[in-house]
Amino acid sequence: MRFDQSFLDEIRARLPVSQVVSKRVKLKKQGREYIGLSPFKQEKTPSFTVNDQKGFYHCFASGEHGDIFKFLQVTEGLGFPESVELLAGEAGLDMPVQSPGEERREKTQDRLRDVMEAACLFFEASLKDVTGSNARDYLRERGVSAETQGAFRIGFGGADRHGLKEHLASKGFGAEEMAQAGVIISGEDIAVSYDRFRERLIFPIRDHRGRVIAFGGRALSSSVKAKYVNSPETPLFHKGHVLFNLGGARQVAYEREQIIIVEGYMDVIALAQAGFPNAVAPLGTALTDDQMKLLWRMVPEPVLCFDGDEAGRKAAYRAIDTALPMLEPGMSLKFAFMPSGQDPDDLIREQGAEAFRELIGKARPLAGVLWAREVESGDYTTPERRAALEDRLAGLLKQIGSKRVRRHYGDDIARRLKKLWDRGEAKPQPYRGKPGARQRQFDNRGMRGGFPNQRRQPWEYGGASESLKRSALVSGRAEVASREALIMHTLLNHPFLLEAYPEEIAGVSFLNARLAALRDDMLNLMSGDKPLDFEAFHTQLRVSESGAVVAQVERAITHKSDWFAEPGASNKDVETGWRQILALHRRSVELGRELEAAQQAFKEEATRSAEERLFDIRKQITDLEGMEASIEGYGEESDRPV
Ligand code: UTP
Ligand code: MN
Repeated sequence: MRFDQSFLDEIRARLPVSQVVSKRVKLKKQGREYIGLSPFKQEKTPSFTVNDQKGFYHCFASGEHGDIFKFLQVTEGLGFPESVELLAGEAGLDMPVQSPGEERREKTQDRLRDVMEAACLFFEASLKDVTGSNARDYLRERGVSAETQGAFRIGFGGADRHGLKEHLASKGFGAEEMAQAGVIISGEDIAVSYDRFRERLIFPIRDHRGRVIAFGGRALSSSVKAKYVNSPETPLFHKGHVLFNLGGARQVAYEREQIIIVEGYMDVIALAQAGFPNAVAPLGTALTDDQMKLLWRMVPEPVLCFDGDEAGRKAAYRAIDTALPMLEPGMSLKFAFMPSGQDPDDLIREQGAEAFRELIGKARPLAGVLWAREVESGDYTTPERRAALEDRLAGLLKQIGSKRVRRHYGDDIARRLKKLWDRGEAKPQPYRGKPGARQRQFDNRGMRGGFPNQRRQPWEYGGASESLKRSALVSGRAEVASREALIMHTLLNHPFLLEAYPEEIAGVSFLNARLAALRDDMLNLMSGDKPLDFEAFHTQLRVSESGAVVAQVERAITHKSDWFAEPGASNKDVETGWRQILALHRRSVELGRELEAAQQAFKEEATRSAEERLFDIRKQITDLEGMEASIEGYGEESDRPV
């Protein structure tokens, strides 16, 4: 009886080798493997190793080697089917009944794989022939080398409605098979079925063994409605169970003990070309628990890499919820956030591989991101709110499946809560204009007693790297716009914000590169081992490389009515005002980018809808400016250069 590969994989996913082996061999954890005395040979020193990520055991004394099924065969003398049966039971899975129907199903799958392979070859050939010249130009423009194209088997689906269909027919495939494989679109209401992937760049999606099971097709022009057309669910393809480039990433991921999860096909491709072949992407959806299981089988702490915008943050938060019930000792996730508005592909193109490596190096542990999510934007000034926060955190803890992990999370959260509650109830003191008063206020509230005053390690926030600071994007503007100046001014007068919200501050996009550098210096000063008091902070800042910029910021502030930015404001008012201005800034940066994109789209094709989009964005910008002006005292000197 032949077993469905996915059934065997499912058993393997549920039963770590160590679990199966430890019934017979006493195992001890050593690094990422387990060791024990060989069950195949009498020995005193252990030479038997088990590796759960690889899914294998290996005995150095006897050379025996295999997976869980093999282990039962050699140690219990079972046949393969029996070993499957036994382990399926242990894994809580029903044995598949290999009915004639099932045999047929297997045949069908083999056949569909053939369809997919033939289609893939066809697309690859199209990319190279005359019809593919636009697609080749596109790839060249995006810097995808011929080698990378080959490695990913990138192809092109031409404009011909029946190009692939006719080709596959000539190879002996029937229309029904093509439809089942998802490469043509058919249906009762469709008289003549036609190719699904037309005028699109084709990214084959392959299973862990490298076999083509689906396609993602990217439009070549931004005026096409659907940017991507993907294969539907088919007998071969269940998108929640696969990751793009899993097969390509696997080996390197294991060797480097690192796997990077990004959002897009193009990100994976750009990363591979830049020396990170260990990158994968889900297929346009949030990470599923099946996908997380796949990741954990390769490395203990996969790094999820998200865009530095609201959507990216939300995606990260969603991933936390998926992961919590599945956490195991040693198995977690890390989170790296891209600079706002950039994806990994952009970052690599603009800043190079080093910048990306730096960012990944600063990935933050799950526990910290979870904490940030729950606490960062809240106001815990009343006992009831504090109690509500504790309730919420307790609810989250309950979701953690592993008892041991749950206990440690409990400790971690308790520690963080204690610090948060210890931040002191001192009433904000009015600034009296004397340095002493300013100093006192600061000491009482900000730095030492500190807000959510956990000391963060430098790697715990995603500050801009050296290479980022030099980037063309951030150095694009030399003048200091007044909103950016106001943000800085607030930070200079209220450095407790730097301690309380380092991630958020690290994520602010400053169009002015010197402000970005100043921000980084500020964050670095406040993330050292010794807390700096207000005066020391300012002294150090003024002697730092960005010192000159401080004066520039001060000059850009031409009116004194932004009360929250001034030294006398209470911490609560500071926070409220600062949040508001930050939200506006974010939105305005976003709109700026959207405007650029819309202008580009309009230039490429002056359609009615492109024009409407342009108008719409311009209107939103005007509205936003109006809103800014309505914030008390702000906007009087709007965007006045220094
Ligand atoms: P992105 O829009 O970030 O795609 O969507 P990308 O691959 O980086 O494309 P470029 O850089 O603009 O060329 C992320 C992923 O979401 C899925 C795809 O898997 C894509 O790679 N997606 C996106 C879709 O499935 N359909 C869509 O219309 C858009
Ligand atoms: Mn992209």
